[in-house]
Amino acid sequence: MKEKKASKAVTLADLQNKKASGEKITMLTAYDYSMARVLDASGLDIVLVGDSLGMVALGYDSTVPVTMEEMIHHCSAVRRGVNRALLIGDMPYLSYQVSKNEAVRNAGMFLKKAGCHGVKLEGGSDMAPTIERIVKAGISVMGHIGLTPQTAIALGGYKVQGRDLESARKLLEDAKAVADAGAFSLVLECIPSALAKIITEIVPIPTIGIGAGPYCDGQVLVTNDMVGLFEKFTPSFVKRYANLAPKIKEALDDFIDEVTNGAFPGPEHSFGGGEELLEELKAKNK
Ligand code: KIV
Repeated sequence: MKEKKASKAVTLADLQNKKASGEKITMLTAYDYSMARVLDASGLDIVLVGDSLGMVALGYDSTVPVTMEEMIHHCSAVRRGVNRALLIGDMPYLSYQVSKNEAVRNAGMFLKKAGCHGVKLEGGSDMAPTIERIVKAGISVMGHIGLTPQTAIALGGYKVQGRDLESARKLLEDAKAVADAGAFSLVLECIPSALAKIITEIVPIPTIGIGAGPYCDGQVLVTNDMVGLFEKFTPSFVKRYANLAPKIKEALDDFIDEVTNGAFPGPEHSFGGGEELLEELKAKNK
């Protein structure tokens, strides 16, 4: 096991320094307090409360139904488990698209109510003016382009983006617009590695890839996917570092067996010392 260090809180400057030095940035998702504690202790740079919450924790079919209330509720729980990593909350669909004022107010709620350090939102050039307004309000913004799951239907489904020259050019413009608007970093989802490499070289802010190859400044995965806790489907770009669901099932089988055959709870999981009380109770009930 590699020794895990890092007790100092991660700052935006740390991420920018990592881009400059070529040291990779690590980001994973969390949706609850217990997982947040494990991630924070691991030495990870960024914990994202992604709106993937909707699919892996709440059982929705997509991220579209996720609400501000659900995000704030889960971000607050994660906040209580994070002391060191940078904590970013994902703005849910329709919390930032209707007007810039609404976007600023909702982004602010992630800081005021949930204690996040910043927010993430999906979109390129079209969202740049909104990003600028949120940043002007003093809120750090992470951009997200490429496959943007909240609008996946409009993009033709969950598929790789930027495969032809025109769409690759558009994504490059989007990346520049998001960076120019003041975002501190940019998620690149499901785009060819070569395109992610060009974007990473051109934009001054760190890029964090998911299904975007090895040239990004950092990598993000949905934790439940990479530890094998979400079995409904696994995107092809996910590497499974553990396969926890079968292990949990084994534990459940053992629990059911032991309760059924009386092996649990044994003396080591029970409280002794009530014998005299028992005698007294028996005598009183005669
Ligand atoms: O919602 C999410 O978890 C995300 C990451 C996968 C980038 O947007």
